[in-house]
Amino acid sequence: MSIESGHRTETVSPSTGPLPGQRYAARAEGVSKVYGSGETRVTALDGVDAGFVRGELTAVMGPSGSGKSTLMQCVAGLDRVTEGRVWIGEQELTGLPERALTELRRDRVGFVFQSFNLLPTLNAKENITLPADLAGRTLDTDWVEQVIDTLGLRPRLAHRPGELSGGQQQRVACARALVGRPELILADEPTGNLDSRAAGEVLGLLRRSVDDLGQTIALVTHDPAAAAHADRVLFLLDGRVVTTLRAPSAPDVLETMAGLEQDALGSASAAGEDTRETGR
Ligand SMILES: Nc1ncnc2c1ncn2[C@@H]1O[C@H](COP(=O)(O)OP(=O)(O)OP(=O)(O)O)[C@@H](O)[C@H]1O
Ligand SMILES: [Mg+2]
Repeated sequence: MSIESGHRTETVSPSTGPLPGQRYAARAEGVSKVYGSGETRVTALDGVDAGFVRGELTAVMGPSGSGKSTLMQCVAGLDRVTEGRVWIGEQELTGLPERALTELRRDRVGFVFQSFNLLPTLNAKENITLPADLAGRTLDTDWVEQVIDTLGLRPRLAHRPGELSGGQQQRVACARALVGRPELILADEPTGNLDSRAAGEVLGLLRRSVDDLGQTIALVTHDPAAAAHADRVLFLLDGRVVTTLRAPSAPDVLETMAGLEQDALGSASAAGEDTRETGR
């Protein structure tokens, strides 16, 4: 597959796709997402083909505004695509009635939002078990306890989100996605508010749930060290997947990011923006 990215054209090797016998837990085909119209029209995704291989940790990287959160929301069925198709497992989301979409999301997807989305009136423990409680599902108590301990949340379980630090709220949001072992976890910058030790623990737990439980996770991150935990890294630029790396090291990721930032600067100047004013 040949992919245009600004002035570069890269060839994505077939080895970056699933190996024979591997299946996608979710995929997007030709997905575009346009917000607004007229002068406020923004093309957040511009023909994205992306897949999250079952039983793998996939990192999604790219400059701010490149469409990472939008891709997560579209794959989760939280947002409707403007064009293209999305599947979770074999189930196509595009065109699914709202109610079926809500049920599918509830039963099969765990989402860690960039802005946490905890319910302010529930305490940490109630927030963690909420999706399972709503679905009337029984959780594996040992796993729930393990998630709570690994994320260091035990002393905070009775506190409401308003009484928790940003990092603690983020860990509650991660725990909420992990405890139900959904088919797919979409985590949008789950370590963005954490210090390096807490971030390492969250990433370690995500990695373990992939290795030990066969969990599928898509992880949006700006951190090359976090992306280096991944089996595969997708890079977005201007709403397109421009590069995929297979099990890269942190320096590999850094090098690719540097190249993309150059491309982003190039496309910003081409669009007539004064890049000096954006501080880049
Ligand atoms: N609801 C919305 N209405 C209008 N534009 C939006 C909306 N959501 C996102 N956008 C725009 O779509 C583009 C992609 O946004 P998105 O949030 O997906 O970026 P991102 O890669 O997640 O960035 P960040 O790293 O800053 O979180 C941006 O230009 C953003 O301003
Ligand atoms: Mg985002």
